[in-house]
Amino acid sequence: MAVIAILGYGTVGSGVAEVMNTNKELIESKAEQPVDIKYVLDLRDFPGEPVQDIITHNYDDILNDDEVEVVVEVMGGINPAYSFVKSALQSGKSVCTSNKELVAAHGAELMRIAKDNNVNFLFEASVGGGIPIIRPINRSITSDRIEAVTGILNGTTNYMLTRMENEGIDYDDVLKDAQAKGYAERNPAADVEGHDACRKIAILASLATEKTVSYEDIYTEGITNISTTDMLYAKKLGGVIKLLGKAGFEDGRVWARVSPAIVKADNPLSMVNDVFNAILLKGNMLGDVMFYGRGAGKLPTASAVVSDIVDAVRHKNINLGIKWSEEKQELMNIEDVRVSKLVRVEYSEKDSAAAAVKRIFGTDSIIEVSDTEDEFAFVTDKVSEAQTDARLEQLLNSEGINGILNTIRIEG
Ligand code: HSE
Repeated sequence: MAVIAILGYGTVGSGVAEVMNTNKELIESKAEQPVDIKYVLDLRDFPGEPVQDIITHNYDDILNDDEVEVVVEVMGGINPAYSFVKSALQSGKSVCTSNKELVAAHGAELMRIAKDNNVNFLFEASVGGGIPIIRPINRSITSDRIEAVTGILNGTTNYMLTRMENEGIDYDDVLKDAQAKGYAERNPAADVEGHDACRKIAILASLATEKTVSYEDIYTEGITNISTTDMLYAKKLGGVIKLLGKAGFEDGRVWARVSPAIVKADNPLSMVNDVFNAILLKGNMLGDVMFYGRGAGKLPTASAVVSDIVDAVRHKNINLGIKWSEEKQELMNIEDVRVSKLVRVEYSEKDSAAAAVKRIFGTDSIIEVSDTEDEFAFVTDKVSEAQTDARLEQLLNSEGINGILNTIRIEG
């Protein structure tokens, strides 16, 4: 019999209990033994609910109980999750977590502590919700050098962008809807400003490089500047706007960024809608492989957590050896990364503005969409961001140009 404790009875924590209950027989067969939830730690009480019988408000009850073999941390945030997880590992308990903030900030250290104590620190649910991606990178794609990882890594923003695109629904209303569905973070700024996707791409890039890619070093831009007009331009280019987390590994150099991007119809990521996430990996032997599924929500996320519980129970006293060291991975300056961009220009005089675009960017291909006034867009060559920025500076000082309304990267 394996005894477990759950820290946090919110969306994911209650989901873990539900998954364990619904699929009890199957899970215990995979775990090769009965699995019992002995404690749930939460500040709240749940009178009248079955969970009330196992609620504790005191973490020491769990830490000091030698029967507890696996601690499931689904509280979110760094504190007190970090100290709880660290002490659990130090006292010989495995930890399974969905907490991307914790994994991105302290993953390598917690994995080392797990290894030193011959237990496991597992975090399948921290990226892509229910999608298996951590285990495949760590255990399946071991014959390839990963050249790029590109992902739709945040369910909330993908849900918002899809509904804005398809139904023209207002940004605030669709965000409220995502919150009601249990997709959004407690502070939804983490979703819409790209910080959640940033932690997730930091985790994936760390696994790909086997070093620590610091999330603070990753250029991050969210969807707060994306409008339905931008979506019309994307459509004219045969694409849709997605919030992408992307990391590139080329010639020993590594870069990573989070930003909205126009994804053309021939890229499978363009078809990933609603709360779904997808991660497209490029291996040097394998080529492209894509992982797709529900990226947020109670049961999909809990399903990934429970898969870790099964793994932890099956590997009692066997460290699974995730390759991710504390050595820092330096990143390329994002300004040196080459990318093509859509540029929306506001003009005072269209012909001179178009002439300036041709002189500076070498294109006379102007894109216009309905319902806009005094503006057009064009696409830049795939050159470094620094080079595009310098040309934009020149454009801003040109006759006929009033301003730059937006620039959006084009994936590919
Ligand atoms: N807020 C996150 C999302 C939850 O929307 O993707 C899953 O990590």
